[in-house]
Amino acid sequence: MNGEYMVIQEVSPRDGLQIEPVWLPTDDKVALIDALSGAGFSRIEAGSFVSPEAVPALRDGEDVFARMRRRPGVIYVALVPNLKGAQRAMKAGADELNLVMSVSQSHNRANMRMDCEQSLAAFADIARHAGSRVRLNGSVATAFGCPFEGPIHEDRVVALVDRYLAMGITGITLADTTGMAQPRQVARLVRRVRARLPASALTLHFHNTRGLGLVNVLAGYEAGAQRFDAALGGLGGCPFAPGASGNICTEDLVNMCAEMGIATGIDLPRLIALSRGLPALLGHDVPGQVAKSGRNCDLHAMPEEWTRQAA
Ligand code: COA
Ligand code: ZN
Repeated sequence: MNGEYMVIQEVSPRDGLQIEPVWLPTDDKVALIDALSGAGFSRIEAGSFVSPEAVPALRDGEDVFARMRRRPGVIYVALVPNLKGAQRAMKAGADELNLVMSVSQSHNRANMRMDCEQSLAAFADIARHAGSRVRLNGSVATAFGCPFEGPIHEDRVVALVDRYLAMGITGITLADTTGMAQPRQVARLVRRVRARLPASALTLHFHNTRGLGLVNVLAGYEAGAQRFDAALGGLGGCPFAPGASGNICTEDLVNMCAEMGIATGIDLPRLIALSRGLPALLGHDVPGQVAKSGRNCDLHAMPEEWTRQAA
C-alpha cells in the first residue's frame, strides 16, 4: 500500500432514498444504515429533516435516528434546510448537520422555496443555535452547473464557501447536483477551495448523470480532495431538479480505489452483496456496475474451467 487514503461518505439513506417513489419502511432504512456501518463506513448521511411534504420518502427521520445501531466512531449526518430541521436533527442525535442550499437562485427556489439570501440567513441562525454542540457542514448545491441557469461561475461558488466559513461552518461540500461537472473544472475549483481549507474539511458530491462521475472523482482527488459522497448501487437524485439521476455508485468507487491502491476501509465484497439486494428492496434495477460484473479478482478466481479449456 502506498499510504493513499480516501474517505467515502455513504449517502444512500438520504440522497438515495429521497427520490424513491415507493415508501421504504423505517425498519428497512435502519437495516440498510446498520449494514452500511458494518461494511466500514466512517460517515453515513442517514436522513434529512426537511418538510415532510417536500420529501415524503424521508419523513421518518426521527425514528430512523432513534432505531439505528450507532457504531462507535461513525459520524451520522443529517441534511437540514432551516432552523426547524436543525432543531429536529439535533434532538434526534445527529452528529453533523449538513446545511444545504444551491448557489443558483433558481434551483434554490425550486428545491428550498427560498432565495439564496434567505437560506444563508437560516444557516446563520442554525450556526448561532448549534454553537459547538454539533459539527456543521455547508453544501454548495449546483456548484458545477444548474439545470435551470446553466454554467455557474466559479467565483460565485468560492464566494459562497467564504460566507459559510465566516459563519463558523467548518465543513464544505461542493455538490454537482445534476451531473454537469467535467474533470478540469473540478480540479480548478478544488484547488481554489483547498487554498481556504484543509482536505479533511472538503467533500465532493457527484452525480453520474452524464457518465463523468468517477472521472470527476479522480480529477478532484488528484487536485487535493480526499472525501467523496457516494450512494450504494448508484441510487439518488434531487426530486426538485429536472433530469436528476443517481449519485456516483459506492461499490464502483471502492472498486476503483482498490484497483488503484487507494485505501478506503470499506469491505467491498460485503458492499457488493448489499447492493445486490437493492432491486428486491426497491423494486427496480440500479445503475451500479461492479455489483453486476463482480470485481476483477472475482473474475480471475471464477473460471477454473476456462483455464482448463485454454490449456
Ligand atoms: N421539518 C419539518 N417541517 C418543516 C420544516 C422542517 N425542516 N421546515 C418547515 N416545515 C413545516 C413548517 O412547520 C410548516 O408547517 P405547517 O404548515 O404545519 O405550519 C410548513 O413546513 C411550511 O413551512 P415553510 O417555512 O413555509 O416552508 P416552505 O413550504 O417554504 O418550504 C422548506 C421550505 C425548506 C421547508 C422545504 O422547501 C424543504 O423541506 N425543502 C427540502 C427539499 C429537499 O430535501 N430536497 C432534496 C435535498 S437537496
Ligand atoms: Zn445529490
